[in-house]
Amino acid sequence: MPDHVEVEENRVRFRVPMGAGQKTGWFYDQAANRAAFLKYVAGKRVLDAFSYLGAWGLSAARAGAAEVACVDSSAPALELLQASADANGLAVTTRRGDAFDVLAALREAGERFDVVVIDPPAFIKRRRDIPKGQAAYRKLNQLAMQLLPRDGILVSCSCSHHLAQDDLIGAIQQAGRHVGRFVQIVEVGGHAPDHPIHPAIPETRYLKALTCRIVQD
Ligand SMILES: C[S@@+](CC[C@H](N)C(=O)[O-])C[C@H]1O[C@@H](n2cnc3c(N)ncnc32)[C@H](O)[C@@H]1O
Repeated sequence: MPDHVEVEENRVRFRVPMGAGQKTGWFYDQAANRAAFLKYVAGKRVLDAFSYLGAWGLSAARAGAAEVACVDSSAPALELLQASADANGLAVTTRRGDAFDVLAALREAGERFDVVVIDPPAFIKRRRDIPKGQAAYRKLNQLAMQLLPRDGILVSCSCSHHLAQDDLIGAIQQAGRHVGRFVQIVEVGGHAPDHPIHPAIPETRYLKALTCRIVQD
């Protein structure tokens, strides 16, 4: 088996690690949501938080985003992201760190983005993580909203099976209230069709991707 393969999505060829990568090496479950998000990015400043190999960010760059910044805690993932960007002739900046800290630092520096994607790892792996995990989703959504102007777009994802879609909507609502923003949910996404839900196996229904518009500053 090769160490790396190339995966093409949204007219970008990504370098994907087979053995050392996360999930299968590539988050195919988000493919339909990434395709749907591209209509928001042309000419915009885009932040891809929890970027992994840059699937959202590099796709946005290819689709005409004015500027793209990617944040992840994994140095190997960001190295591969940069290699893919170079190979495709796409300009992005990368920042390695805890996304909570990086988003707070960007807010303190007065940075603003037109579109922010937050696609974190599952904060709730077991039932007993629910209270702590819900607080983490609220905090993360607050930080993201504070980087967005009026009419900014937030794509807020969760792959925690134990966080129902309504709970994520609740976290977004509470986050908006906390930072004085009104939020409209304009698109509701789930897994791509190659990740079907088995009616008898509730764990197969895990991914949420809510596209939100910030309507008041
Ligand atoms: C669900 S994956 C992201 C998938 C990616 N957005 C995609 O579509 O291919 C979560 C990512 O978050 C990163 N990560 C985990 N904890 C983090 C943290 N506290 N701050 C920043 N990145 C983190 C992991 O390295 C991983 O790349």
